[in-house]
Amino acid sequence: MSTSVIIPAAGSGVRLGEDRPKAFVDLGGATILARTVSSVLAADGLDLDRIVVVVPGELIDAVRSDLAGIDSATIVVTAGGDERTDSVRAGLNHVAGDFVLVHDAARPFTPAAVFHRVVEALRAGFPAVVPGLPVVDTLKRVDDDTVIETVDRAVLRAVQTPQGFHADALAKAYLAADGGVATDDAGLAERAGFGVHVVAGDPDAFKITTPWDLRLARAIAKGWD
Ligand code: CTP
Ligand code: MG
Repeated sequence: MSTSVIIPAAGSGVRLGEDRPKAFVDLGGATILARTVSSVLAADGLDLDRIVVVVPGELIDAVRSDLAGIDSATIVVTAGGDERTDSVRAGLNHVAGDFVLVHDAARPFTPAAVFHRVVEALRAGFPAVVPGLPVVDTLKRVDDDTVIETVDRAVLRAVQTPQGFHADALAKAYLAADGGVATDDAGLAERAGFGVHVVAGDPDAFKITTPWDLRLARAIAKGWD
């Protein structure tokens, strides 16, 4: 059962506010994207068919040289679109094999065990699988600055990537989305009627979104743990 991994890396990183697209920001001598690709390659046992890296069109050549140390038979670099969903859709044109994992470029420290849990659940027959973490903070529903109610966090999960799919299920979900967008791929699978299974995520799989996340990531890259 072979697996393709789509890495959407075509976002601009507005919330991070650096001088370049987020995936190309330096993290202790390597780009965030290069570290993420390395973490996918480090997760052996995935029966990896290929990695499809989706980047801003004007950076395709730069990415090919950034990733030049990696066996080029495994890597496809292609251009993304305005929304994350458009970028994943572009990546889907290049996948092969039974399973597709979609993994944010902005999660460079995702442990191999998370990839393995997702793929094991796909092998067990679940068509769509997400890693999730319990929510630790108390959550309030608000209207402007006024609390409306406290939400029961026990039934909530903060969902990460890699999100895994049987290839035909993800293709169907994107077809049914018909150009629509979602903040994650499982959202489209849910809308298309697929059951989505949750496995344990990991705090190390956090997404670099804000300047604080980048400070944390740089500390980790220096060897803090
Ligand atoms: N992504 C993408 N194409 C887009 C938007 C996002 O490939 N049009 C990718 C990002 O590069 C990132 C992942 O999707 O690896 C998760 O998105 P997010 O964290 O929102 O990144 P950005 O969209 O770049 O950040 P922001 O929303 O702050 O601009
Ligand atoms: Mg975004």
